[in-house]
Amino acid sequence: MLLTMKQDESPYYTHLRELNLSPGWARPEPSMWPSPQPKFRPAVWRFADAKKALDASHNMVPADQTERRNLIMVNPIEGNTYATTRHLVAAYQCVMPGDRARTHRHSAAALRLVLQGKEGVYTIVNGTRIDMLPGEVLLTPAFCWHGHANETGETGYWIDFLDIPFIQLTEAMFFEPYPQGGLEAITSEGPTPMRIPSREALGGGTDAKTVEIAKGIMPTIALNLIRQPKGGRIETPKSTANTIYAVVSGKARVTAEGFDETAGVGDVIAMPCWHAHTIEAPQDTVVFKVTDEPIFEKLGLARTAN
Ligand SMILES: [Fe+2]
Repeated sequence: MLLTMKQDESPYYTHLRELNLSPGWARPEPSMWPSPQPKFRPAVWRFADAKKALDASHNMVPADQTERRNLIMVNPIEGNTYATTRHLVAAYQCVMPGDRARTHRHSAAALRLVLQGKEGVYTIVNGTRIDMLPGEVLLTPAFCWHGHANETGETGYWIDFLDIPFIQLTEAMFFEPYPQGGLEAITSEGPTPMRIPSREALGGGTDAKTVEIAKGIMPTIALNLIRQPKGGRIETPKSTANTIYAVVSGKARVTAEGFDETAGVGDVIAMPCWHAHTIEAPQDTVVFKVTDEPIFEKLGLARTAN
């Protein structure tokens, strides 16, 4: 029932508002519905566009804020200024030659998919130097110290994925700059579980294969590498999880109701919850899939439907 103007202005309803009470029999909108009604929508971002814009940011980012030289992929729905999907945000980021991004840590979990980099473009995670090479996934779980540097003559580019929108929702937000300031000292350069090369994770061959990586390391985010040979096709039913895809190699055509986009290397597609969708590979392709599925599994809310 919706209140008429006359009822709404009556002393009874005016008094309720003064008490910060709202009549359950006359809500302005429903508080429950039969199945998910995602507000976010499928969307695509192109690495080539973002790269050009990042390159043009050269003189725009103050030297002490190089960790913020990124372009956030904002889902184009009304009122949204930040999130890519309900719980995750993705951003294109670069480190230019000579950049040193200050070490810090936070309660949000983060990871990177490297698009362009070479030895000398590196992240330091809890003291371990990890060089950023294309196709590698680097993890910075919650509260891990991390900073970046570029000692080469070429800009390094990657895609950041973080659960910041979820942490904002929970209000359990913490952020801390490195107490000594600047970039954390390197204490180790050895192998680390925080570095996952996609090619090694998938093994040899070009056959269809999906590998979950970093399983259980981040409590809110699941990561999968999906390999499809030319002509391959994956159908994904409606799910309560929200997904972000990024193309590691090849090309992926992603279709959903009202959405049909072909993504190349470094392009990103957001696929919100409750959207059945199909991924087709017009050539041998590897796609990186980032989802908030663990949140729903832990809360008993993981559901799928056709
Ligand atoms: Fe960070």
